[in-house]
Amino acid sequence: MKPAILTVDDEPSVLESFCVALEDDYRIIPASDGKAGLEALEANNIDLVLLDIMMPKMDGIETLRRMKKADPDVDVIMVTVKKDVESVVTCMKLGARDYISKPFQIEELIHTIERELEAGTLRKENRFLRSEIRGRSREGHIVSRSNCMQHISDTIAKVAPQDSTVLITGETGTGKELVALEIYRRSHRNTRPLCIVNCAAIPSELIESELFGHERGAFTSAYRKAIGKFEMADGGTILLDEITALPIEAQSRLLRVLQEHTIQRVGGRKAIPVDVRVIAIANSALKTAVSQSRFREDLYYRLNVLPIEVPPLRERKEDIPLLVNHFLDRFNKKTGKHIEALSPEALKCFVAYDWPGNVRELENLLERLVVLAEHKLISQESLPVDILSEEAFRSLGPLKEAVHEFEQRYIGAVLEKARGNRSMTADLLGIHRSTLTLKIQQLGLREPNP
Ligand SMILES: Nc1ncnc2c1ncn2[C@@H]1O[C@H](COP(=O)(O)OP(=O)(O)OP(=O)(O)O)[C@@H](O)[C@H]1O
Ligand SMILES: [Mg+2]
Repeated sequence: MKPAILTVDDEPSVLESFCVALEDDYRIIPASDGKAGLEALEANNIDLVLLDIMMPKMDGIETLRRMKKADPDVDVIMVTVKKDVESVVTCMKLGARDYISKPFQIEELIHTIERELEAGTLRKENRFLRSEIRGRSREGHIVSRSNCMQHISDTIAKVAPQDSTVLITGETGTGKELVALEIYRRSHRNTRPLCIVNCAAIPSELIESELFGHERGAFTSAYRKAIGKFEMADGGTILLDEITALPIEAQSRLLRVLQEHTIQRVGGRKAIPVDVRVIAIANSALKTAVSQSRFREDLYYRLNVLPIEVPPLRERKEDIPLLVNHFLDRFNKKTGKHIEALSPEALKCFVAYDWPGNVRELENLLERLVVLAEHKLISQESLPVDILSEEAFRSLGPLKEAVHEFEQRYIGAVLEKARGNRSMTADLLGIHRSTLTLKIQQLGLREPNP
């Protein structure tokens, strides 16, 4: 899409010469006076304005003032006759970016325009960078060895270089965001912005404005124009997380972006071209939402061009030992500890467990175990009960044996303390002396020498 330049000049010959010089590389929108210029700015998505200073009726200075009021971000280059230094200074103070003198040299004109357009793009990206972090700097790579994850890696490699929309689905904590970031990193857009929007985290009445921007006065608190994430991510990628939460009106706007590659700001009429790759993430609730008409079916199919379903951890248990090592490494670094491994029995429990919270649950548990660990090996005993496998439970033995073991240790210790005095021991234990005698026989306790 060629950048759009609005040219405002009262002399038809000047407008004509702008057209001839620029129309190969730019979309030229001519206006013959200030008023027409303001209307054209309102109705089109303009990248740059060339504005004559000397015009009858509304002059360039007044037109500039009004343009800046309507759209503070508009970039304007003034066109002036030589020696009108004073007016030029006034315009620069009002926010004009630069000026060119009439009669102009075509090379100089093109050079000034190119420089200004590039600076405009940088300003847009800077605004974006101030509000977002770039995906490239996020840590984390996919750790896996299972066939199904290998298959996903192959798909990522095929899908990443394309510009098509990707829909990533899967249970909570399976690594959907990680897959999305990997696609971004391997795409040719990886030096361009990545905008991450969690649709479930933004109040539904704000989400349209957040994504698509709004015009001044679009709603009560819209005191000035704001550009949305789609415009900020122009040329890059947008990651729409938890897309099921997108309200139905925003769904229509999104459908339009995918079909026509244009957006409309809230309260605006103009169709603004955007070049953004969409990666959407959803959990299994998306299909239900479609069947209950809470999510547009046409949008679902539009998003689902390249589907990737990340399998739950219980369907790829081969990955568990690898993930355990990966996270032990990470949390050792984080805590400065040197935990070597899970004991073989503990690892067995990890593999047997179903992990309803998937990789995130495993990650969180390992962090806790590393923080609490006192030995180089994390043993089965330190695992929470719901992780313990049935087998591990059984290996704990029947209650009778456990009680036997406990009584042996406990009564032995009290006897020891009482230096073998049976009456004192029975008193301390709160049992009858004859019961103690029986216990000593049954448990095979040896009495300490008094
Ligand atoms: N294969 C993997 N290798 C390494 N780390 C992983 C892997 N899968 C997931 N993780 C880690 O597990 C955590 C959860 O992953 P992620 O946030 O990508 O999951 P999600 O599917 O988006 O979860 P949710 O549905 O809760 O949003 C992250 O810290 C991520 O780094
Ligand atoms: Mg996620």
